[in-house]
Amino acid sequence: MLRTVNCGELNLSNKGKEVTLCGWVQRSRDKGTLLWIDLRDRYGITQLFFDETSNVDLIKKARSLGREFVIQAKGTVIERESKNPNMPTGEVELKVSELNILNEAITPPFTIEDETDGGDELRMKYRYLDLRRNAVRKNLELRHRLAIETRNYLDSQQFLEVETPVLIKSTPEGARDFVVPSRMNEGQFYALPQSPQTFKQLLMVSGFDRYYQIVKCFRDEDLRADRQPEFTQIDCEMSFVEQEDILQTFEGLTRHLFKKVKDIDIPALPRMTYADAMRNYGNDKPDTRFEMTFVYLNEANNNVVGGKEFKVFDDAELVVGICAKGAANYTRKQLDELTEFVKRPQVGATGLVYARYNDDGTIKSSVDKFYSEEDLKKWATAFGAEKGDLMLILAGGKDKTVKALSELRLEMGTRLGLRYKNAFSCLWVVDFPLLEWNEGDPNLLASLAGRWHAKHHPFTSPKPEDIELLKTDPGAVRANAYDMVINGVEVGGGSIRIHNRNLQAQMFEVLGFSKEEAQKQFGFLMNAFEFGAPPHGGIAFGFDRLCSLFGGADSIRDFIAFPKNNSGRDVMIDSPSEISDEQLIELSIGVVKAEK
Ligand code: AMO
Repeated sequence: MLRTVNCGELNLSNKGKEVTLCGWVQRSRDKGTLLWIDLRDRYGITQLFFDETSNVDLIKKARSLGREFVIQAKGTVIERESKNPNMPTGEVELKVSELNILNEAITPPFTIEDETDGGDELRMKYRYLDLRRNAVRKNLELRHRLAIETRNYLDSQQFLEVETPVLIKSTPEGARDFVVPSRMNEGQFYALPQSPQTFKQLLMVSGFDRYYQIVKCFRDEDLRADRQPEFTQIDCEMSFVEQEDILQTFEGLTRHLFKKVKDIDIPALPRMTYADAMRNYGNDKPDTRFEMTFVYLNEANNNVVGGKEFKVFDDAELVVGICAKGAANYTRKQLDELTEFVKRPQVGATGLVYARYNDDGTIKSSVDKFYSEEDLKKWATAFGAEKGDLMLILAGGKDKTVKALSELRLEMGTRLGLRYKNAFSCLWVVDFPLLEWNEGDPNLLASLAGRWHAKHHPFTSPKPEDIELLKTDPGAVRANAYDMVINGVEVGGGSIRIHNRNLQAQMFEVLGFSKEEAQKQFGFLMNAFEFGAPPHGGIAFGFDRLCSLFGGADSIRDFIAFPKNNSGRDVMIDSPSEISDEQLIELSIGVVKAEK
């Protein structure tokens, strides 16, 4: 070893000891006859000390070191004159007797310290330097810990880790595939897996019983802070189970991770139906760190806004609002900001109506022209509003309005400081619909528009009591499907699967596949079901999302060693990139390029 200790471990108990350290020069302080250098490695920082009176040549050499030079320093551990209580090694320093330069470094493009001057793109371009910074390294250490604890728990529950292939077959279902041309099979393509779904089901047919894999998945979809084109799942499957068994087992995993990694005991996870989540939060992944649930104002049996000549409310399919506790003192400017917020195209509302329940007991609204104080009292009763509260109301078409209010609720939660990073609110959302009508989802192939689409995936089983509805009212069929939601993030999702060939074939029929297409795409799975497939089900957690939640961050990028940017590019290695004509021709796709 080139070193005997690391930069994070020396303290007063080592005083007088001869040691050798290796690391990177973080910074130096030159006081003429004395010089100090902060030496950094993965474990911490140790101060090196040089004294001109004891060795002139040595201090000269130390003076020649630039930032990020890689050095080896031998010397004696001494007590510091001015101690730094904020550093684990802050009571000691190394009085250097020998200094070796292991490698020189050019000036880095940004400072490699906790507070860096490097912008996002620059740090991504030099990600290997960014990874030297404490903050980023700590994120990867957290990721490592979570992976180890996941394996410990699943191993203790008899799960076997099995690797499934990465070069698989493209299917039109789900998100878009990344495809890989096959040189040996002219004109044919592999696809990278969007998840190991069918393979893990086949492992159940094989009798593996309890499978897991911490596995890369690939999806060619629009990117956001919580989406990467390649991401990692904790993918799991179990045989001879019902939904309840899966919920218990993976609540156990979640509890284990919180306890071992954050020393937090989380309470039993509440269950919320999809219908309730949508009604109360307008969202199938509600952030339940705070209440502020939806209040419906124009329902047939309880209409407190209609018939007052206010056309916006009278003509609206839906009038719905939230009550922001203690926000009645919002200024005109703040209310204008909220109006601008809801009108953004991504939010999609046409306007915002508000009513303040003032401390003096009066209620003033932005539509006082139409509503008397007495009318507004009725609003307050519907909202359960008290003095000091602010009522915020949106109106319009049902789906759009619900979505917009859900965004406004989250925005108000943020503004009122209710979305604490270190509070964790976990729940199961259950009873998802089996199918949803695809009007033309931009993340799906255009040919799938105007058809039923599997909300989870086509292998999810309908609730037995709803199977009959598949023929008459597919949209009303509920699935044995569940998501785990933490702080408004869909951390994981899964389902009990279909394990019967006929039901699987019926499902493909509902999804608009011809018998031939279904057989061609998924025959391997349906055939397997005829050889004794056990009842089975499973779940997959988004591992990157789990890491960022545990780390208290919004973006999963910070928890991936080498992530892609928002355009799906790796700016460090500059990919994707063009390939040579020779490669194209070998892959039989040269023609495509020539035609371009
Ligand atoms: P699903 O598609 O819900 O289920 O994915 C499971 C979990 O993976 C995470 N996730 C992502 N994370 C980062 N970037 C992405 N692009 C991305 N897409 C998904 C989410 C999500 O909850 N085979 C099924 C699981 C099953 O049924 O067992 C599946 O893949 O946290």
